[in-house]
Amino acid sequence: MATIELVGVSKIFERSGGRRVEAVKKLDLQICNREFVVLLGPSGCGKTTTLRLIAGLEEVTTGEIRIGGRVMNGTPAKDRDIAMVFQNYALYPHMTAYENMAFGLRLRGVNRSEIDRRVRDAAGILGITDILDRKPGTLSGGQCQRVAVGRAIVRQPKAFLFDEPLSNLDAKLRAQMRTELLKLHQRLQATMVYVTHDQVEAMTMGERIAVMHNGELQQYGTPIEIYRRPENVFVAGFIGTPGMNFLHGSLRCEGGRIYFQAADVDSFRISMSNFNGASRWMGRDLLLGMRAEDISPLGIGKAPNENTFLATVEFVETLGAESMVYMNIGEVTLVSRSREELDRREVGHRVHFEVNPERLYLFDPESSKRIYPE
Ligand SMILES: Nc1ncnc2c1ncn2[C@@H]1O[C@H](COP(=O)(O)OP(=O)(O)OP(=O)(O)O)[C@@H](O)[C@H]1O
Ligand SMILES: [Mg+2]
Repeated sequence: MATIELVGVSKIFERSGGRRVEAVKKLDLQICNREFVVLLGPSGCGKTTTLRLIAGLEEVTTGEIRIGGRVMNGTPAKDRDIAMVFQNYALYPHMTAYENMAFGLRLRGVNRSEIDRRVRDAAGILGITDILDRKPGTLSGGQCQRVAVGRAIVRQPKAFLFDEPLSNLDAKLRAQMRTELLKLHQRLQATMVYVTHDQVEAMTMGERIAVMHNGELQQYGTPIEIYRRPENVFVAGFIGTPGMNFLHGSLRCEGGRIYFQAADVDSFRISMSNFNGASRWMGRDLLLGMRAEDISPLGIGKAPNENTFLATVEFVETLGAESMVYMNIGEVTLVSRSREELDRREVGHRVHFEVNPERLYLFDPESSKRIYPE
């Protein structure tokens, strides 16, 4: 098994007409032996390109790729000892599941009994022993996906790369396959890199998540680090369901206390007294970040205070265990997610909401970096 390191890796594609696309920009990424790392980001941010660079299906423009400590630039894909599982499975339609799994080993000249042992082992792990003699056309999406994973397992590679392997499956099967892939990871103790644009999938599967945007790494950390301490506005907005709420405004000092004052709404003033480094940012344009679950309707009988604000309720979605309340503050819509029930009759009315003062964020809109919590 293996560590995977990317050092200053860039990939530029030359398109027809001389246009250049920098799909991956100066990417530094260290993936530990046996780690499960998720590459997460919106469409076109360079996730697939990064995987293909690791696999050797593309050559880097600059930088270095090391696998197990060895520089792999220039080493062809077949000699990198890495297996990649694609979104579209890429199974051979005229071969049975068994033959699909065995094919790569045959090409490598592995003997028949060893191939049979490996294919049956992998099929056992994946629960597809009874479909080995069927062709992909007769299998469900989930079964095809398992065969595709099986084809990777039989190679006994140093590392596995998965490119959105579950996106063709329905929600239920996807959740089930997620758990199965995690079990597989535990069982095989292999290094795995998993690409998705689904942040829930990333949060539930990744030991660490690398968030990418426009070919650049935005943040690399555990799910909880990324959720609790997003480095910048992009990560804060991309992670979480829904993403973080943002509001423009600035810091003010009154009576020795520090407040965040919304730019266009006089009535929105929230205490920021925990911000020790506030003096540097006084009066400058800033973005306040609040997660939906850290805003809730003010409980009955509680008095408005320096952690509350007034907003006009726009609509309420009741989800059972909790409800989502969309509200307007001037031109801005914020969303709250809380267990407090809010009557639909409140729609159109001004209601007090309370923020969790321990969970506020500030970002510098110029650099987009988080400045608070420090
Ligand atoms: N072979 C290629 N030639 C030219 N441009 C390419 C090539 N492959 C990818 N690109 C461009 O590089 C950028 C990154 O593409 P990539 O496929 O890595 O994104 P992605 O994050 O995997 O997106 P998605 O979530 O849609 O799969 C895109 O702008 C894409 O158009
Ligand atoms: Mg892709």
